Amino acid sequence: MAGRTEEARRSGERETVCVTGAGGYIASWLVKLLLSRGYAVHATVRDPRDPKNAHLGQLEWAAENLRLFKADVLDSDALAAAVSGCRGVFHVACPVPTDRVLDPESEVLAPAVQGTLNILQACSANNIQKVVVVSSTAAVHFDPNWPPHRPKDEDCWSDINFCKKNEDWYMVAKVIAEKTALEYGERNGLNVVTVCPTMALGPLLRPMLNVSHEFLMYIIKGPTMMKNIPWHIVDVRDVVDALLMVYKKEESTGRYICAPNCISAKDLVNMLKRDYPNYNYVNCDNDMVLNSIVTPLMSEKLKNLGWKPMKTLEETLLDSVECYKKMGLLKDAEGCPCRLPHLFHMAIEK
Ligand SMILES: NC(=O)c1ccc[n+]([C@@H]2O[C@H](COP(=O)([O-])OP(=O)(O)OC[C@H]3O[C@@H](n4cnc5c(N)ncnc54)[C@H](OP(=O)(O)O)[C@@H]3O)[C@@H](O)[C@H]2O)c1
Repeated sequence: MAGRTEEARRSGERETVCVTGAGGYIASWLVKLLLSRGYAVHATVRDPRDPKNAHLGQLEWAAENLRLFKADVLDSDALAAAVSGCRGVFHVACPVPTDRVLDPESEVLAPAVQGTLNILQACSANNIQKVVVVSSTAAVHFDPNWPPHRPKDEDCWSDINFCKKNEDWYMVAKVIAEKTALEYGERNGLNVVTVCPTMALGPLLRPMLNVSHEFLMYIIKGPTMMKNIPWHIVDVRDVVDALLMVYKKEESTGRYICAPNCISAKDLVNMLKRDYPNYNYVNCDNDMVLNSIVTPLMSEKLKNLGWKPMKTLEETLLDSVECYKKMGLLKDAEGCPCRLPHLFHMAIEK
C-alpha cells in the first residue's frame, strides 16, 4: 500500500482516506501526519464551524488536501458521504468522558458501539479496502482473572461484567466496540485492524485539554493524595505512526497494544519535578500499590510489525508541559487543584 501512495503521488492522483472525529487530540495528529505523507483526507467533525476545529484548516497541505465532513457517528448517511471515494478509513471518534457517566447508553455505549457499526457498514457499502479502529488499553487492562505475573498481551480483554460492576462505562464501551469491529470484519470480509493505545500525551494541536491531558494537569497541579500505582503512557506522535503503519502493512491483522512506557505515579511526579520543581504536584509518596489491576503490557506484536516509538517518556512529558505553558494553563497552578477525570478513579479510591 505504501508503494501505491508513492505511485499515486507521482501520477498526481492521491490516495484518499477518511478520519472520524478528526478534531480530537489523537485524530488531529493523525490528520497532520497523513497530510504530510501526501494523502488526501476526508475528516469528519460534528460541527465544522466550531472554533475548536479551526486548527485542522491551518495544517500544512490542508488547503489542498483536506475536506471536512459534518458527521455524528450515529448518522449513517453522513458517514457514507465521508467515506465515499476513500481507500481506507481510520475510525477514531468516540466519547471519552471526563465526568462520572450518568446515562451510559446515550453518553458512551451508543456512540462507541453503534457508531463503530455504522462506520463499518458505510465502509462495506463503499468498497473500503482497510479500516483501522482506535480502541484503547481500557479494553485490555480490566481482567481480574488474568494471571498476576503474566504481562498482558492482545489475548487479554477487559471483563465487561467486572467493568459494569465498577460503573466503568467507558471501558465497557471500548471492549464491546472493539469486539464488534473485529467480529464485523470477520463476518463481512472487511479488512479491520484495531489498535489499543494507552494514555496518550505530548503536544496538543487543538487548544483544549482532552481527558489524558486533564490527568497530567491534575498530577502537576496537585496537591491532593494519589495512590502510587503504575501508569502506561505513549507519545501521541508515536500513536499516529502506529496507526499509519498498521494501515499500510498488508500483513497487519487483529488487535495491537500500543503502550511502550510504564511508570509509577511517584516516579512520574519525580521525573516532572526534575525539570519543573515549582508546581504543587499530587502527593504519592506512599508505597507502590501491589494489587493494582494495571500491570505490565506488551507491545511486542506492534513492534514485530515494525513500530519503533521515537519519543522517550521524558520528552513526551516535557513537550506536554511546554505546551500547557504556551497555552497559559499552568499560570494558576499554585494552590489551585483541578479535577481528576472520573475515568481514573482507581487512582484515588480505596
Ligand atoms: N487520549 C488517550 O489517552 C487515549 C488512549 C487510548 C485510546 N484513546 C481513544 O482514542 C480516540 C480519541 O481520543 P482522544 O483522546 O483524542 O479524545 P478527544 O480529543 O476527546 O476526541 C474524541 C473525538 O471523538 C468525537 N466524538 C465523540 N462523540 C462523537 C459522536 N457521537 N459523533 C462523532 N464524533 C464524536 C469528538 O468530537 P467533538 O469534538 O465534536 O466532541 C472528538 O473529536 C478515542 O477512540 C479514545 O477512546 C484515547
